Amino acid sequence: MRVGIVGCGTVGSGVVKLLLQNSSLIERRTGEKIEIAFVADKNPEKVKSLGVPVDRVYDDGFEALKSVDCDVIVELIGGTTVARDLIIEALKMEKHVVTANKALLADYGKDLFMLARESGVSLKFEASVGGGIPVIKALREGLVGNRIKGIYGIINGTANYILTMMTEKKVDFYTALKEAQELGYAEADPTLDVEGYDAAHKIAILSSLAYCRWVKTENVYLRGIREITPLDIELAMDFGYRIKLLAISKLEENGMEVRVHPTMIPENHILASVNGVFNACLVDGDFVGETLYYGKGAGEKPTASAVVSDIVDLALGNFYDVPECLFEKSEVKIKEPDEFV
Ligand code: HSE
Repeated sequence: MRVGIVGCGTVGSGVVKLLLQNSSLIERRTGEKIEIAFVADKNPEKVKSLGVPVDRVYDDGFEALKSVDCDVIVELIGGTTVARDLIIEALKMEKHVVTANKALLADYGKDLFMLARESGVSLKFEASVGGGIPVIKALREGLVGNRIKGIYGIINGTANYILTMMTEKKVDFYTALKEAQELGYAEADPTLDVEGYDAAHKIAILSSLAYCRWVKTENVYLRGIREITPLDIELAMDFGYRIKLLAISKLEENGMEVRVHPTMIPENHILASVNGVFNACLVDGDFVGETLYYGKGAGEKPTASAVVSDIVDLALGNFYDVPECLFEKSEVKIKEPDEFV
């Protein structure tokens, strides 16, 4: 399996390092050889410094895509403009695509998945939600026999890190945000993290998979954490609660509820002890009951781990991306906030 990586920022560097370090382990486990065909980034010197052979380093992803033979393109540019053009180009050239780009999938996923189908290739996205936690795999494989009743997720590492610092170290919002950025957790534009858009992109993806109805970011009721003060946190604690940015989606008789907002969680609830950059996703299925997926939700290595799991899936011939029912007309209604219970 020959892989072309476009974008060598935090996650791209992690993918390169993982493949350079663990390729023979992956080959022993799966029988599949994963080879880096090229890495493209506007800073080629950085790519070279990771140990990628000079003749496989490009400064232009589109040029590399056209000139290097490969089976899979890994899009790690981020954003919804150049990344979208690159993915479209790669799918049209009948290359499989792996991406971590939740914003792109939440808003343009339907067309991109349709294009992948028309081209007979797959568009995989495990890294788009929950960093290193295989929650997408859980929904599409382990829980596939269940009617999903609800998903309750702490799925933005930056917001969780900020709220944890404000709780444990009593620092203010901006001090905690600065630290999260320095640690490489935050999106390039931290507004996406702190205003809840990133969590909204992710819960839109999870809800679409769980309920067979496309959910877009604009369908998600949204409130971020910027207005949370140290006093709010202290008062919540006095009453036995922790404040978390919670992403919730529930399917009920009269429709689907999808929302992201700061939530007071009883301190003895398992989600209340999810701290720092850790994410957790509680998925409630009608047969399995409640299941919990927990791990680092952001950062170079955890996210790289998820990207590589998709590459290996493709190498093993598991081309499944999204369920067929997502392309059919859905009867499921998305509730307005005044209908929430
Ligand atoms: N900015 C995101 C987060 C990165 O903090 O969770 C992972 O999606």
